[in-house]
Amino acid sequence: MKAQVAPILLFSASIHCLGFNFAYESLQLTNDHILDFTAIQFGNASSAPKTYQGPRCKYQPGDPSWPSTSEWASLNASLNGHLLKPEPPGSACYPGPKYDADTCAFLVGPARATRFFLDDPLTSLVTWGEGATCLPMLNTTGRTCAQGGFPVYVVNASSVRDIQTAVNFARNRDIRLVIKNTGHDFIAKSTGRGSLSIWTHFLKGMEFLANYSTGEYVGAAARVSAGIEAWEAYNAMAIAGNFTVVVPLDPSVGYGGGWTLGGGHGPLASLYGLGADQVLSMNIVTAEGRFVTADLNQNRDLFFALRGGGGGTFGIVTSMMVKAWPKRTDISGVTYYFTTGPGQSTMSDSRGYPAVPPIHIPDPEVFWRAYRIYLTFADEIVNAGGFGFGDVTPQGPAGTTTYLFASTITIPGMSASSTKKFLDPLFSSYRAAGINLSTPDPATVLYAQRGAGVTPNSFPGASSDRLLITRLLPRRLWANNASEQLAAVAEVNRASAELGYRVTTRAYAPTAAAAGYPGDGAVNPAMRDMVVHCVTVKREAVDVLAPRELLVEHARLSARVDELRRLTPGGGAYFNEADRLEPGFQQSFWGKHYDRLLAVKRAVDPWGLFWVPTGVGSEDWEVVKAEGEMPTQDGPLCRIGGV
Ligand SMILES: Cc1cc2nc3c(=O)[nH]c(=O)nc-3n(C[C@H](O)[C@H](O)[C@H](O)COP(=O)(O)OP(=O)(O)OC[C@H]3O[C@@H](n4cnc5c(N)ncnc54)[C@H](O)[C@@H]3O)c2cc1C
Ligand SMILES: *[C@@H]1O[C@H](CO)[C@@H](O)[C@H](O)[C@H]1NC(C)=O
Ligand SMILES: *[C@@H]1O[C@H](CO)[C@@H](O)[C@H](O)[C@H]1NC(C)=O
Ligand SMILES: *[C@@H]1O[C@H](CO)[C@@H](O)[C@H](O)[C@H]1NC(C)=O
Ligand SMILES: *[C@@H]1O[C@H](CO)[C@@H](O)[C@H](O)[C@H]1NC(C)=O
Ligand SMILES: *[C@@H]1O[C@H](CO)[C@@H](O)[C@H](O)[C@H]1NC(C)=O
Ligand SMILES: *[C@@H]1O[C@H](CO)[C@@H](O)[C@H](O)[C@H]1NC(C)=O
Ligand SMILES: *[C@@H]1O[C@H](CO)[C@@H](O)[C@H](O)[C@H]1NC(C)=O
Ligand SMILES: *[C@@H]1O[C@H](CO)[C@@H](O)[C@H](O)[C@H]1NC(C)=O
Repeated sequence: MKAQVAPILLFSASIHCLGFNFAYESLQLTNDHILDFTAIQFGNASSAPKTYQGPRCKYQPGDPSWPSTSEWASLNASLNGHLLKPEPPGSACYPGPKYDADTCAFLVGPARATRFFLDDPLTSLVTWGEGATCLPMLNTTGRTCAQGGFPVYVVNASSVRDIQTAVNFARNRDIRLVIKNTGHDFIAKSTGRGSLSIWTHFLKGMEFLANYSTGEYVGAAARVSAGIEAWEAYNAMAIAGNFTVVVPLDPSVGYGGGWTLGGGHGPLASLYGLGADQVLSMNIVTAEGRFVTADLNQNRDLFFALRGGGGGTFGIVTSMMVKAWPKRTDISGVTYYFTTGPGQSTMSDSRGYPAVPPIHIPDPEVFWRAYRIYLTFADEIVNAGGFGFGDVTPQGPAGTTTYLFASTITIPGMSASSTKKFLDPLFSSYRAAGINLSTPDPATVLYAQRGAGVTPNSFPGASSDRLLITRLLPRRLWANNASEQLAAVAEVNRASAELGYRVTTRAYAPTAAAAGYPGDGAVNPAMRDMVVHCVTVKREAVDVLAPRELLVEHARLSARVDELRRLTPGGGAYFNEADRLEPGFQQSFWGKHYDRLLAVKRAVDPWGLFWVPTGVGSEDWEVVKAEGEMPTQDGPLCRIGGV
């Protein structure tokens, strides 16, 4: 290992040799642990059959080949007792042995303002994707509680050895395996019926290094464990004082798991690239059960795939080394609103920036003109290294003509006065369109805001627990002669809002230049070329719908996004905010990288051990469901086309 100067250790013990980042990585599975418990023997991808030879479906509880209770007990012993068999928390709300009115009242009330759901081994924050089989609710009339799409067993991982043991068991016994970190995934990839889940949540550690080098990289870096969440990284930055790392905006999103593996945008994306662009090395447990390091010098195919190829597919990350900047980052920004409805004097969510009270725009035509002005300005925001939010939310039920436009524009590293000058042209365009609004005074806030990991959306049924579909808008829509195409995008979004959908936009541009060294990762090429990330959201909860109604609602939403797909041929969408039924997902999520990713996947995991919907190689399997129903995680996972 190279010299490390002034490491600042914030959690967990770290071990700076033999490729370990943290002490829990030094605890590994050896043949001495396996002895006669052959179900946890290692696999060998090179000697495995090249074509799949396992059972057509992963074994489910009740199948004759499902391991016996005593085998599970042996597994538990090999895991030092870290095997859990939890029931979904919502079971407290349903008639049965777990019924408990007080617990249920806690779940639908006070628990939402705590970390209860984030620290729960089963909870997916997106309920419909699991199958909505045990919703925590007070009135459960007409509903039931079942394990459904939730895993049967969970390994509360506390060492690399725990993870290797579980991986080997699931592979050798042909059991569905899932990986859960925070449970934020929008299609509940961290759940799966009849599965053994590996829960990385309690693998906590983070450390800054002032002087680290690898390959051509010389500079600051950070070791980050798999279970670290954004808020813990913000706190670490705040404590260290003079380091910046690229993390998710939302404090409760995982930093060391799905976010980084699948791309990972945040307020610094236009300046420093995506989460995946920060990675200098990753330590992972492979489908063989081996613990390896993937970096520029070893396991280079995995190193490529892990930087954008998606979570839950190539292995289980236990920690990573990422680039850091040896300085504090300040961000200047403003929040402002337009509404066609009655003006509210205060708004709840200004993202920490001073908010101008909503401007009332009685004429919807003027409102939509202003929306177009914002979209047109988006490329200026990203060219300045900034991040823009421009969200249209219909107020009230579909069919009303009342809309709210909420916008926050943030520019890292720019002073408040320069940001004001930068924003002047946007606000003078608004004024020219008839909106009485002078350029607001930006405030400068610390990127590293301290927090306690409790957010308003970290519970099942929160406003982020919705059906949504994304589309990335390429830079060519902002070319000199393309204003008509951008206007067409604005018209599509208007029509979607008029049908009752919420349409959010995120302006950021993680170009290859912003991403910097080491490059050559698997990040969606469409993200290299984007200016705006558009998300069309069904505002109403869909977890209460029957699977057939869910498919109908999905088709309606997808038809809206088809209009954007038509305006962006050959374009893409964001894997971490995936549509469960994204048409041509291989192209949408990975473009030209897909062939290489699929080859890597088949080479490292010939067993199809790691499977997530819409993931690389996921087309080889399906979750069985009834005709006409929306697929969720609540069904057996079976090989397509037989064995
Ligand atoms: C409220 C909310 C806010 C969000 N904000 C942002 C944002 O600011 N920027 C952004 O880009 N995205 C954001 N997202 C989307 C987010 O990137 C995805 O939900 C992402 O999948 C979360 O990763 P996780 O590890 O926290 O979640 P999980 O649901 O636990 O895991 C997601 C996927 O990654 C896999 N995975 C997790 N850990 C590992 C590991 N150690 N090794 C291998 N695979 C692993 C899981 O198997 C699963 O497939 C947000 C989502 C929500 C619900
Ligand atoms: C894996 O299989 C290959 C090919 O059969 C063999 O050369 C290699 O030694 C095996 N590896 C291990 C660790 O057994
Ligand atoms: C695993 O063992 C621990 C410790 O003995 C025990 O507390 C736990 O209940 C066991 N898990 C299962 C699923 O039996
Ligand atoms: C409970 O839900 C059922 C079915 O949705 C409904 O008919 C009933 O009125 C509800 N009861 C109460 C007390 O809200
Ligand atoms: C999981 O393990 C951690 C320690 O690593 C412990 O704090 C936590 O309580 C455990 N959770 C459960 C549900 O067993
Ligand atoms: C970082 O380490 C290199 C050698 O590895 C050394 O040349 C350089 O001076 C160090 N920089 C700092 C800021 O310590
Ligand atoms: C950051 O601050 C710490 C503690 O104050 C100090 O030891 C370290 O040298 C600083 N690093 C840089 C790169 O300035
Ligand atoms: C514009 O806004 C300012 C301050 O908010 C107000 O004083 C002025 O009357 C407004 N002008 C018009 C034409 O509404
Ligand atoms: C107009 O746009 C097309 C592609 O959309 C491009 O090929 C052409 O060069 C552009 N022309 C000008 C004058 O910018």
